[in-house]
Amino acid sequence: MVTRQFPKPAELLELMQFKKPELDGKKRRLESALTIYDLRDIAKRRTPKAAFDYTDGAAEGELSLARARQAFEDVEFHPDVLRPAENVDMSTEILGGPSAMPFGIAPTGFTRLMQTEGEVAGAGGAGAAGIPFTLSTLGTTSIEGVKAANPNGRNWFQLYVMRDRDISYGLARRAAEAGFDTLQFTVDTPVAGARLRDKRNGFSIPPQLTLGTIINAIPRPWWWYDFLTTPKLEFASLSTTGGTVGELLNAAMDPTISYDDLTVIRDIWPGKIVVKGVQNVADSKRLIDAGVDGIILSNHGGRQLDRAPIPFRLLPEVVREVGKDATVMVDTGIMNGADIVASIALGAKFTLIGRAYLYGLMAGGRQGVDRTIAILRSEIERTMKLLGVSSIAELEPRHVTQLQRLVPVGVAAPAPEAAASVPAPRPRTPRATAASTAKTDAAASRPAKPSAAKSTGSATKA
Ligand SMILES: Cc1cc2nc3c(=O)[nH]c(=O)nc-3n(C[C@H](O)[C@H](O)[C@H](O)COP(=O)(O)O)c2cc1C
Repeated sequence: MVTRQFPKPAELLELMQFKKPELDGKKRRLESALTIYDLRDIAKRRTPKAAFDYTDGAAEGELSLARARQAFEDVEFHPDVLRPAENVDMSTEILGGPSAMPFGIAPTGFTRLMQTEGEVAGAGGAGAAGIPFTLSTLGTTSIEGVKAANPNGRNWFQLYVMRDRDISYGLARRAAEAGFDTLQFTVDTPVAGARLRDKRNGFSIPPQLTLGTIINAIPRPWWWYDFLTTPKLEFASLSTTGGTVGELLNAAMDPTISYDDLTVIRDIWPGKIVVKGVQNVADSKRLIDAGVDGIILSNHGGRQLDRAPIPFRLLPEVVREVGKDATVMVDTGIMNGADIVASIALGAKFTLIGRAYLYGLMAGGRQGVDRTIAILRSEIERTMKLLGVSSIAELEPRHVTQLQRLVPVGVAAPAPEAAASVPAPRPRTPRATAASTAKTDAAASRPAKPSAAKSTGSATKA
């Protein structure tokens, strides 16, 4: 039997603690985003379809990207209990300098297309947060403009070695003069990947107005207002003749780049040199032996070779083979601070984010970039506390298991009952079918236990 009484006015008043409404629409919008996927939703609503798809999309069937994100979701963490971790130090040393957190901003081409503040927002946000920013060869803000936006922070320059070597090396020299401390030499783009969304959208550079784009613009007036009232959208360092991004890349890129170019780069670049787009153990070893300062395991966010190996999956074996002193970094698919923590635990020295930053940019310019960084910061901090670690150095391979989903055929087929226990792919990766993505997985060569998915990552930090 419930005992009832008249509601007491004082108790009612206590319940009615209404929050002051946030009158700043952008702030309200960004604060409502609790995850990078939330920022993506906002970005999608506010950005014309062709620009959003150029950013969000990947190559061919977009399997590489889906698998990379899935691999992060397939992480199992192993926390230690009764380990006080009240204050967490997320800072780290990377390539001879500090970073307040174990991630930086990856190079992205044509960034002002997503939102007019483009690289200035990225570099400014990175500088304020104490993490490095990378400017792409195909950037839409000049080298000097980025330096001005991030005068005291770390700026890195990404180099495409193009057919016209004078242009490429000239840009590298300019970036060195402007004080950029690291050069990322991207090697996974001998030709452009097939970005089918761009083709389907008729997306070209410079963007062309069609009936479709005009209809799509109606619910997105602010993007168009920005686009039409700010300096022309163009590559800051290259003159282009127009076409799809793929056509432009194919015209500019040189499929014959080789180790000789690395030798030239070493002559002209005074700072650190890292090679971006490494996708197997042999190349990792060869590059480290050749004396580069670091490698980035990356498949370009799935925008080049579709069905390429998952960089996060390659990580444990690469680290084991090149040794713990080598600087191995990883990108592709990072959407959560926990993805970053897992990468560091498995031996990455650093990580890069591409789309996670661009979704923030599209959702709200510089404030959106700040929001991306804040979300990742709180996710990293929370994950570390929940794991019972208080510094980056304490993260160990034993904290992470990579649960096995795709198993190579013909290396060591899993026992039938183990295969049956692999969870079905979630809807975000409906097209991810079994394929040879885990050639380097340690577990693939071990007989699988019937009970569960297997670890592929907790071997050694090396
Ligand atoms: C819109 C866009 C443009 C990109 N442009 C470049 C580029 O110019 N040079 C480069 O080396 N990588 C480029 N990348 C790849 C990123 O540097 C990075 O490797 C990738 O975005 C990581 O995957 P994520 O987006 O899942 O974080 C681009 C990625 C995106 C999404």
